[in-house]
Amino acid sequence: MRKKIIAGNWKMNKVISEAEQFLNEVKTSIPSSDQVDSVVCAPFLSLPALVEQAKGTDVKIAAQNMHYEENGAFTGEVSPVMLQDLGVDYVVLGHSERREMFNETDESVNKKVKAAFDHNITPIVCVGETLTQRDANETKPHVEKQVKAALEGLSEQQVKETVIAYEPIWAIGTGKTASSEDANEVCAHIREVVKTTVSEDVANEVRIQYGGSVKPANVDELLAQSDIDGALVGGASLEPESFLKLVEAGK
Ligand code: G3P
Repeated sequence: MRKKIIAGNWKMNKVISEAEQFLNEVKTSIPSSDQVDSVVCAPFLSLPALVEQAKGTDVKIAAQNMHYEENGAFTGEVSPVMLQDLGVDYVVLGHSERREMFNETDESVNKKVKAAFDHNITPIVCVGETLTQRDANETKPHVEKQVKAALEGLSEQQVKETVIAYEPIWAIGTGKTASSEDANEVCAHIREVVKTTVSEDVANEVRIQYGGSVKPANVDELLAQSDIDGALVGGASLEPESFLKLVEAGK
């Protein structure tokens, strides 16, 4: 049975003091990581404080992006060396907002996934289709292409540890959640892609999240699906009470 993983993607929200306040409110009541993995994906500026605050608790800390080069002339970027030095546990890679607005590509996502593993950081790799692709019945081939590209060149163990987040772009921030059946069908297809390109054993262990307007009211139904192993949550993860309800649902 795959342990669920619930990640809150704060995106560009919360100054450092608000981030510290959030962690203070959740860290003592978050369920044990023996039962469910809880991840807070915060803006870079809060990471040092949150990593320090999370020590000895069941909360894991994630960055929302990183470069794949270790250093160099990349103004404004953050390297995997810097995140490893901080002690960050996870990193979200290939989020649709970065693919759409910041030139993230399948190729750069793959380089970043490899760099994450090279620096002991677990990647949460985002894939998902646009409404146009959905309406054209192109969801599965599109997501399959993204998954194959992201996982290219990884060892079986690295694929097993990778978290894949299926986030239909048309469901992000819109309040339109994919139906549990539709979400599960795509997550099952992702698992089938891992089975055919890596192995059945790895496919059975890799964790696949759903993201896109997940909230406490719909999380139970989503997590009850056979191929959904967690959630990557935006808006509904910003408040401590809501985030705790989402994590509780993953136990
Ligand atoms: O990465 C998670 C995010 O894209 C989902 O956002 O607000 O629809 O939960 P939201």
